[in-house]
Amino acid sequence: MTAAAPSGSDAAASSQAEVSAEIEAIASAYDAVSDAKRVTGETQPRLDYPPYRSSLLRHPTKALQQADPEGVELWSPVFGPRDVDALEADLTIQHRGEPQGERIVVAGRVLDGDGRPVRGQLVEVWQANAAGRYIHQRDQHPAPLDPNFTGMGRCLTDHDGAYRFTTIKPGPYPWRNHRNAWRPAHIHFSLFGTEFTQRMVTQMYFPGDPLFALDPIFQSVVDPAARERLVATYDHDLTEPELSLGYRWDVVLTGPHRTLMEAGE
Ligand SMILES: [Fe+2]
Repeated sequence: MTAAAPSGSDAAASSQAEVSAEIEAIASAYDAVSDAKRVTGETQPRLDYPPYRSSLLRHPTKALQQADPEGVELWSPVFGPRDVDALEADLTIQHRGEPQGERIVVAGRVLDGDGRPVRGQLVEVWQANAAGRYIHQRDQHPAPLDPNFTGMGRCLTDHDGAYRFTTIKPGPYPWRNHRNAWRPAHIHFSLFGTEFTQRMVTQMYFPGDPLFALDPIFQSVVDPAARERLVATYDHDLTEPELSLGYRWDVVLTGPHRTLMEAGE
């Protein structure tokens, strides 16, 4: 596989077929490593993943500075149950009118590697609207903004480690990784673990998305089983009559089945 231009117009000139061929070559090389040699599979996205052009430029290349975790805690934001209102978990009631699109519930549990609930966990989400547009000055693609949808919410996990959001199903959106590049629909998640220094940022996807195979960000998680853990499942028990479809997605913070962090976008 040839190394790709990292960014800019040259990178954007690649076709989907070229990027897909690069994705396939990396996947084949990964498959060629026998399970015996591969103990648990890769547990994080590839930092340098050439099909995802800007991945080559956007991670540290030098050893990280060690910081005293307790010292960091003294300067980091703090929050408590009083700071997070239960209504902040409903992204459909933040404006005077109803947002456009398909109303959904996304719910699940935050667990540690032994399956124990992580309680009181701050879960933050951000996402595009139903048309695939973010309220962000860098997002200028010609899809409409929705005056009734900001696309951000947060909640605290309960005693069972459970979280629940009501929102609008985000649309896929184009980006400039290559010609005709589209991201599968996704919701960004941030979790802090038990300390500020443990922050995890990741993305949740929707089952059956036709863009999965084409998306170099999704595919930068090269282990198929690990990639699958980023995809929510449709749950009819979460679906509410006449109101919303339900998706379930659990987040595991540690251990071999942990949810992978995103490589950045
Ligand atoms: Fe996104």
